[in-house]
Amino acid sequence: MYLGIDLGTSGVKLLLIDRDQRVIGSASASIEVSRPNPGWSEQDPADWIEATGAAFAALKKKHPKETAAVKGIGLSGHMHGATILGDGDVVLRPCILWNDTRSFREAAELDADPRFRKITGNIVFPGFTAPKLVWVRNNEPEVFDKVRKVLLPKDYLRLWLTGEHLSEMSDSAGTSWLDTGARKWSAPLLEATHLDEKHMPSLVEGTEHAGTLRAELAERWGLPSGVVVAGGAGDNAASACGMGTVRAGQAFVSLGTSGVLFAANDSYLPNPESAVHAFCHALPNAWHQMGVILSATDSLNWLSSITGRGAADLTTDLGEGLRKPTGVTFLPYLSGERTPHNDAAIRGSFTGLAHESDVAVLTQAVLEGVAFAFRDSLQALQAAGTELKRVTAVGGGSRSHYWLKAIATALKIPVEIPADGDFGAAFGAARLGLIAAEKADPHHVLTPPVTAETIEPVEKLTAAYDEAYARYRALYPAIRGTM
Ligand code: XUL
Repeated sequence: MYLGIDLGTSGVKLLLIDRDQRVIGSASASIEVSRPNPGWSEQDPADWIEATGAAFAALKKKHPKETAAVKGIGLSGHMHGATILGDGDVVLRPCILWNDTRSFREAAELDADPRFRKITGNIVFPGFTAPKLVWVRNNEPEVFDKVRKVLLPKDYLRLWLTGEHLSEMSDSAGTSWLDTGARKWSAPLLEATHLDEKHMPSLVEGTEHAGTLRAELAERWGLPSGVVVAGGAGDNAASACGMGTVRAGQAFVSLGTSGVLFAANDSYLPNPESAVHAFCHALPNAWHQMGVILSATDSLNWLSSITGRGAADLTTDLGEGLRKPTGVTFLPYLSGERTPHNDAAIRGSFTGLAHESDVAVLTQAVLEGVAFAFRDSLQALQAAGTELKRVTAVGGGSRSHYWLKAIATALKIPVEIPADGDFGAAFGAARLGLIAAEKADPHHVLTPPVTAETIEPVEKLTAAYDEAYARYRALYPAIRGTM
């Protein structure tokens, strides 16, 4: 048996698979995000441990025999978070998360130093880890003085599980400290933020052995000794492992809190100018690109909260047939945007409202706005040398066929829906646990699921979607001018 642990922003999920990769069971526990100031987003790392312990207990209750047979564990987690440790690995302040934008000034300053884009292959986004440490140095110098290690969220879980300071390439590529092409820490970039390599964990590949479960925990959980913990991956690369998106040409679109258009690459293809992310993949000699939009299902959830109708009801109300864009346009920049704008200050908007703009019209505009944000990401990937012929849909929002039709039509490529199953980050992490424990060939394990259904672009609406996209593109510069 192999256990995947995915530390998500709203909760931790544990998923157990067997040697044939059949899902045996799963359990989750929720975790709160605290927003003590506008633009801030934090979590207490102690909550991750508590939630993981609770989810493990629930899994063990449901599947006592199978959990007792775990040989390998894989970790996945939300990326970019700064978990700041002092002497004795004591947590010095709450973890600053990926969607926290407080360090936008520090990010812009680091990004103005050409070495960052050149070495990391990425813009220094405010959500990335390095600018957060500069913010801490500027605003909480007493904390910065005590920093001994900086860990990504899932690697803090690993520290608790194994006692080791270790990370892997895919998550580390999102720190702004990694030489992404060479897959090693960059001494000059660390130095530019007043840190050095001893503040960083050692690096392995996501498929490699990265620590062994501590004897005390193994005993408490009733597991054998010597359980292997794999390097694992940041949640996007872990999802890609779950989806079998590991070879050039394979891609997925993820409709979660954030939206991601993810393409696997067999070489390192950076293009920071288009605000595309170019990161290491979880397996050796592989990289990936992604466009990241900060509010995907979050945009629909926002509309749901102000209309008082459930998100699923809102999309169901639209029916199955794709509607022609109405002239109402929604920009989904509720918490700023990464691809293609790298703009932490921009906010969302509705334009073109009329007397007849009812809740259905607003819902339609929100779904189209997110679809157009993915079209921006597709163009960013194209500018970085990647042509996609099809994508697979994952994430909670992909349950809406209407939304997938809007995305297929906006992107002008088919969107595939995988056959029923759980191919998310926890599954990808479990697969990495299997690979590390059994020294298996990653390409034999990381295969794609069967496609259950293919959603084709709606040809008769392509022209209307093109016009609506042109309106959408024209709005960002206009709205920016008002902020
Ligand atoms: C990726 C990113 C998000 C988080 C969400 O760059 O910031 O997708 O990983 O968990």
